[in-house]
This record gives sequence, structure tokens and C-alpha cells, in this order.
Amino acid sequence: MSQKIAFITGGNRGLGFQTALDLKDAGVKVVIGSRNPAQGDQAVAKLRAAGVDADVLKFDITQPADYQAAYDYFNSRYGWLDILVNNAGIAGGTFPGTGPEHSASDVPLDLLHKVFETNFFAQVALTKALLPLLKKSSAGRIVNLSSILGSLTLHADPNSPIYNAKTFAYDASKTALNAFTVHLAWELRDTKIKVNSAHPGWVKTDMGGDQAPMELSEGGKTSAALATLPNDGPTGGYFHLGEPLPW
Ligand SMILES: NC(=O)c1ccc[n+]([C@@H]2O[C@H](COP(=O)([O-])OP(=O)(O)OC[C@H]3O[C@@H](n4cnc5c(N)ncnc54)[C@H](OP(=O)(O)O)[C@@H]3O)[C@@H](O)[C@H]2O)c1
Repeated sequence: MSQKIAFITGGNRGLGFQTALDLKDAGVKVVIGSRNPAQGDQAVAKLRAAGVDADVLKFDITQPADYQAAYDYFNSRYGWLDILVNNAGIAGGTFPGTGPEHSASDVPLDLLHKVFETNFFAQVALTKALLPLLKKSSAGRIVNLSSILGSLTLHADPNSPIYNAKTFAYDASKTALNAFTVHLAWELRDTKIKVNSAHPGWVKTDMGGDQAPMELSEGGKTSAALATLPNDGPTGGYFHLGEPLPW
């Protein structure tokens, strides 16, 4: 099997870093994006020490110039890209949270714009920039890091576990990202590219916080599995540990 090339945004810490670790035995060269070069170098050193074939690319998903730089990086070194894990994201507040930043009626509009810029518009823009390289892969995989909090079905159900977990800006940005998954998967349905949304679980990271029930060591599994789906695997889905979630 020839080596696959992967790009994981926000790979210097948290779930992006864990996903890179989890790809160790999958024959994947992992390039992590890190907006802080020193933190990126430290993360790559740890990944290499753990046996991952890893490199780092300085990358801020809110900087449009970085989309072209990422394209140029993968095009000049490899000529294609197999796996894009759209992992970088922001919460726009603390979890679990009840402050005005999480309220649908009180959310500061500049915060709403900022969260959507990072968690939605930038994901669409980066994917668009890298799609020509993913189309050159024999098995392209796009993983959009969504959240169960993006599920409108579960938010509207008084019996669901997230009914009272309303963090508006974040939740709505992940719902929009889910729409991107469905629409892009449909457009790419006759290609070798699979596009899926991942809910990693509520995981102990800087974003997930200490109350999260899932350890980081478990948190990369959904992204890693969707990044390495077999050719008969699903596309246009929304998954947590192999189980479908309602949109
Ligand atoms: N943790 C959970 O329970 C949970 C649950 C569901 C979904 N998710 C999703 O999983 C993804 C990763 O979450 P996490 O828990 O690992 O969060 P995290 O610990 O806060 O890490 C976020 C990562 O995203 C990067 N990032 C943020 N803004 C960026 C930007 N403008 N450009 C480039 N990188 C940027 C961060 O880089 P810096 O170090 O430079 O800040 C960091 O590497 C997110 O999309 C999140 O919404 C997490």
C-alpha cells in the first residue's frame, strides 16, 4: 500500500494531535497545521517520538493566504492530498456554558460572526482550495469535525441528552458545517472522495474541559476511522464511533 498524505488542521494539541497519533499504523504521512510554529514543532517532535511520520505546516484557518500556501505545500511535495481533517475550531465561550455568549437571544453579533468564520466559512474555503488535490487521490477522505451539538433533531427533542446543552453560536456553526458535509458529499458522489461529519464525543481537551467524560486517548477514534474509510464506506454521513447521529 502506498503511503497516504493527510492534513489535519489544528493538529498541535487536543483532538487534532490525538487523531495524528491514531493514524500511526495506517500508513499515513500526517501533516499537522499549527498557527503557532513553536507549538507545531513541539507537537511534531512528540508525534515522531511516538512513531508517527509527521510534519508541520504553519497554518491559520482564518488567513486566506494560508489556503494557497497549503495548496502549494502539498502540490509541490506530493502532487495530491488523500485526507483532509477539518479539525481546527473554536468554542466561542466555555463548555458547558450558560452565559450570554451562548444565548440565542443575547449572543454578541461579533462573537457569532467570529465563531462562524472559524468553524464554517474557513472550513468551506480551505476545502475548496484543496479539493483539486483531493480529486487526484485514489481514495480522498474529508472529515469535518462537527459535534453532537450541531444536531437540530437532538436539540429539538426534550428527551435527548443535549436538550439543555444550548451553546448557540457554536451549535449553529456546527449545524452549518453539517450542511456543507451533506451538500459536498452529494456533489462528489460519483468521485472517489468521501465526505463525513464526525462527533468525537465530549472529550477532555482545552475546549471540552475537565468535566468531559471521554479521555483524549479515545477522542481521536471517530476522526481517524472516517479518515481511513474503505472504498465501500459511507459518504455524506454524521458519525460517532461508527454509529450514525441524526442531523
Ligand atoms: N473536545 C470536545 O469535547 C469536542 C466535542 C465535539 C467536537 N469537537 C470539535 O473538535 C475539534 C477540536 O477540538 P478540541 O477539543 O481539540 O479543541 P482545542 O483543544 O481547543 O484545540 C483546538 C485546535 O484548533 C486550533 N485552532 C483554533 N483556531 C484556529 C485557527 N484560526 N487556525 C488554525 N487553528 C486553529 C487550535 O490551535 P491553537 O493551539 O493555536 O489555539 C488547536 O490546535 C473542534 O472543531 C471542536 O469543535 C470537540
